[in-house]
Amino acid sequence: MYKYSVSILGTGFIGLCSAACFAQKEIKVIASTHDEKKAKLINDGIAPFFEANLQEILDEIKAKNQGMLQCLTGSIDAIAATDISMITQGTPMRADKSIDLSFIETTAKEIGMALKNKDKYHLVVVRSTVVPGTSRNLVGRLITEISGKIPGKDFGLCMQPEFLAEGRSIEDTFNPDRIIIGEFDEKSGSMLQEFYEYFYGEHLKNCPIMRMNLESAELVKYGNNSLLSTKISYANEFANFAELVPNVDIVQVMKGVGLDYRINSRFLGAGVGFGGSCFHKDVNAIKAWAKTKGYTSRLLEAVLGINDDQAIHVVDIAEELAGTLAGKRISLLGLAFKPGTDDMREAASIRVVDELLKRGIKDIVGYDPKANETAEREMGKKIEYATSIEAALKDSECAFLITEWDEFKSLSPDDFKKHMKTPNLIDGRRIYDYDTFHAALPFRAIGRTDLK
Ligand code: UDX
Repeated sequence: MYKYSVSILGTGFIGLCSAACFAQKEIKVIASTHDEKKAKLINDGIAPFFEANLQEILDEIKAKNQGMLQCLTGSIDAIAATDISMITQGTPMRADKSIDLSFIETTAKEIGMALKNKDKYHLVVVRSTVVPGTSRNLVGRLITEISGKIPGKDFGLCMQPEFLAEGRSIEDTFNPDRIIIGEFDEKSGSMLQEFYEYFYGEHLKNCPIMRMNLESAELVKYGNNSLLSTKISYANEFANFAELVPNVDIVQVMKGVGLDYRINSRFLGAGVGFGGSCFHKDVNAIKAWAKTKGYTSRLLEAVLGINDDQAIHVVDIAEELAGTLAGKRISLLGLAFKPGTDDMREAASIRVVDELLKRGIKDIVGYDPKANETAEREMGKKIEYATSIEAALKDSECAFLITEWDEFKSLSPDDFKKHMKTPNLIDGRRIYDYDTFHAALPFRAIGRTDLK
């Protein structure tokens, strides 16, 4: 067993995936959650939500490393019994789009209470995405005030952003591109670096550890998500340019651009826009934070605006193709914000549905291989939910491809012709071969128009 034990405060997908990966490498982990049901599932070795490979790791821990991962319903005991505490709480978006730090605040207070009665040096690591200044001025300050301990002497403080994408959390945890350590002081950063030198071992040959101050590390995370969002909105803006010139294809254009080693082709996929739990929340949070400092971000405003407009744009091109859609039955293939998940947070499907409803188009049916249930929770009776592709396409006069699930990729033009009343198809993710589909049925795709 490794010499330092870790408490993971928050068992969302970042927290639990980190906990499981650490425990698998013989690091004693005590996770904590306020949710009793969740704690029981984790203690029974059952993943409380779906994330690729998480269950397999929990099974392995149960078989080989029993006792390495434990989950408590209170954080104070977890903190008291370990050497390092990682804060992995959510930082949701408030109604005014700024960051909600209330879970971080509660956890910092709990750490303060736990450290009050602890004599040993303890390292606190903020893993949640927080606006610059939070680790020092909220977390560090509350712990100091409540525990009476001195930062740098009695406890250490680091900010280590995570860059995990849903569906890849386990893979990303084991194979990061880099480890960013924001440190209150040298001692805190060195202890965390030592921990990762043990955890990653050989992998560190290809993975730099960068150390900086707390605020810089906080800003790295926002820099990351803002640039990825910007790449997508940039690709979508160029897709709109491409549509102004017949026979120009955005897929080719972005491939050409992405081959520049300074740019790379990832996240240049034009489509109906980005969704998910991070991009909107984080871009809005850093924008709102800058505003409180008197700075207005024009770039991020545009990134979000272009993204919202893509949902309007797909409906525009559908009406160009199929005529007015009011009174017609419309199908959405895919509802989740990306394939491989049932997550509906900020999904493009929601914006497309809202735009359709705004135009008086009410007969909408959606189908998603995994997200029908979560979509119904999110959108309720705004649309109907089909349980198969065939049922979704039946009687439809226009289909929108919204999420690029594999089962949609294998559809041929004949499948649409066979099942739909009128086979108008909009490819919102560029998964279909343009020439084949364009020749076979009324078809439009983001980022390409043809000579008539
Ligand atoms: C993202 C970041 O990748 C991750 O580093 C961060 O920690 C959390 O946010 P995630 O939200 O899980 O992860 O999904 P990601 O795979 O990044 O996709 C986000 C959205 O962008 C999806 O809706 C996807 O469809 C869209 N996207 C992605 C595009 O529209 N075009 C692209 O080229 C790539």
